[in-house]
Amino acid sequence: MSTVIVSQDELLRYNSLVSKLKNRIAEMGIEAGHTLVYHVKTYGCQLNESDSEKIEGILRDIGLSEASEDQDPDFLILNTCTIRENADVRLFGNLGAYKPMKKQNRNMFIAVCGCMMKQPENVERIKKSFPYVDACFGPSDIHLLPEILDKKLSQRKRVFSVSEEDYLVDDNDMPVERKRKFRALVPIMYGCNNFCTYCVVPYTRGRERSRSSEQILKQLSDLANEGFKEVMLLGQNVNSYGNDKEGEISFAQLLEETAKIPGFSRIRFMTSHPKDISPEVIYTMKKYPNIERHLHLPMQSGSSTVLKRMNRHYDQEQYLKTALLFRKELPDATLTTDIIVGFPGETEEDFQATLDVVEKCRFDSAFTFQYSRRPGTKAASYEDQIPQDVVTERFGRLLALQNDLTFKSNESVVGKTEEILIEGKSATAPDILTGRTNSNRLVNFKIPKGTLYKGKAIDAESPDFDADQFEGLLAMVKILKAKPYSVEGELESFIDE
Ligand code: SAH
Ligand code: SF4
Ligand code: F3S
Repeated sequence: MSTVIVSQDELLRYNSLVSKLKNRIAEMGIEAGHTLVYHVKTYGCQLNESDSEKIEGILRDIGLSEASEDQDPDFLILNTCTIRENADVRLFGNLGAYKPMKKQNRNMFIAVCGCMMKQPENVERIKKSFPYVDACFGPSDIHLLPEILDKKLSQRKRVFSVSEEDYLVDDNDMPVERKRKFRALVPIMYGCNNFCTYCVVPYTRGRERSRSSEQILKQLSDLANEGFKEVMLLGQNVNSYGNDKEGEISFAQLLEETAKIPGFSRIRFMTSHPKDISPEVIYTMKKYPNIERHLHLPMQSGSSTVLKRMNRHYDQEQYLKTALLFRKELPDATLTTDIIVGFPGETEEDFQATLDVVEKCRFDSAFTFQYSRRPGTKAASYEDQIPQDVVTERFGRLLALQNDLTFKSNESVVGKTEEILIEGKSATAPDILTGRTNSNRLVNFKIPKGTLYKGKAIDAESPDFDADQFEGLLAMVKILKAKPYSVEGELESFIDE
C-alpha cells in the first residue's frame, strides 16, 4: 500500500467522464420512461457518512436524483463497515433483499463499497454468491466512481476495482451532497497508523494522510459563508493531524484557526486518541466558546495490562490525567468514551479496573462494545479469548453502571436553559422537535402554543405543522426532565429566525 496524491490535473479527467455519463444517464432515463434515481445506504462511522455524501455528489453530477422512500432506486450503492462481525452479517443479510428488485428492473445498478471491500474474502463472496451486484470498490476509490460506472455501462461487465493505493484527493471542487442543512462533515485526514490489535481500520483505510491545512481552512470558510452552523472535523485520530506532513500545523492550531472563522456556532471533532491529545487542545477548547463543550476520548479499557495488549500506547494513569484535566478546565462540558468488554486475556481484575475508571471519570455517556474477533488483526490470534457468557455478564455490569451515570448526567441539567441547535422533528412525535446542546446532549422539546416565529404564532398540534422548517436554527430551551439517553424540554425563544 502507498499514498498517492490525486492532483487537480488528474481530476480534469473526472469532468470529461462526467459529461459522457450525463448523456448516457439521460438516454437511459428516456428508455426507462422516468428520471433515474439513486439510493446510497450507509453503514458505520461518520467517515463513511462523509464518503457517502461524496458518492451522492458524484451521482447527482451525472444527472441522477435521490429516490424517495417509496421508490425503488435505479442505482443502489451500499457503503459498508466491518468494524465488528455483526456489521458484516448485516450487509450479507440485507443484500439478498435486493435480488427481486434487480429482477424487476434489469437495468438496475448495484454497487458495494466501503471498508468491507478491503477484505478480499468479502469481494470473493460477492463475486460468487451475489451475481446481481455489478461493482465493488474500496473506501479510497470514490473519485474513481465515474470510471467504474463508465466501464460497467459501456462494457456491460461486472467491475471489481478495489485499489491497493491509499489515495489522497486534496480537492475542494469535488461534489459533495450534504445531507444536513446545518452540519458539514469535513475529513481532515484519512487512514490510521495505530494498529490497535483488535481493529481492522488500519487495514481498510490505509496509512494516515492529512489534507493540507490551507485547503481545509479554505473549505471551512466557504462552508461558513454558505451558512453551515455546525462543522465536524473528522479523522480516526485527529490529534495526530499533520504528523505525516513536514511543516504542517498541529491539530490544536487547526482547531484554533477553525474557531476564528466567523459563522460557526458548533465546532466538533472526532476522534481523539488519548495517546496523542495535547493539553493545548483542551486549552483551545476553553478559549473558544464556539468549540463544542464535549470531548469524545475512547478509553477502550481501564486496565493498563489490557491497554498494553491492545497496543494503545497509554496506561490507566495517563488516561485519567487527561480526563481529569479536561474535567477541571471545562467543568460544564461532557466527556464520553468507547469501551470494549472481553478483550482476550481480560481478567475480572482488569474488568474491575475499567469499572473503576468509569466511576472516576463519570462519563456522561459511553459506547460500549463486546469484543469482536476480526480476521487479520493481531488480537484475533491471541489464544486467551474470553468465553461469551463471561463477556455477556461483564457487559451487563458495565452497562448498568454507565446507564446510571448517563441518567445522573442528564439530571444535572434539569432546570437549566440551554442553547440548542435544532436538528428537525423528533423520532417520538410530529409536534416534538429534536436538537443538541453545545455539550452534545440530545434534547427533545415542545414549542408552546402561540410562540412567535417570523411574526406568526406557532401551533405544533395543527396538522400543517412542519417541524423540519426549524432545522438548523438556534433556540433557547428550558430542560424539564431527564430520560435515560436524552432530556426533555420546552422552547423559550428562537435565537435566529
Ligand atoms: N479511531 C477511533 C475508533 C474508531 S472505531 C479511536 O481510536 O478511538 C470505534 C470504536 O469501535 C472503537 O473505539 C472501539 O471501541 C470499537 N471497536 C473497534 N474494533 C472493535 C472490535 N474488534 N471489537 C469491538 N469493538 C471494537
Ligand atoms: Fe482502530 Fe486504533 Fe486506529 Fe482507532 S486508533 S481506528 S481503534 S487502530
Ligand atoms: Fe466501519 Fe470503516 Fe468506519 S470499518 S467504523 S466504516 S472506518
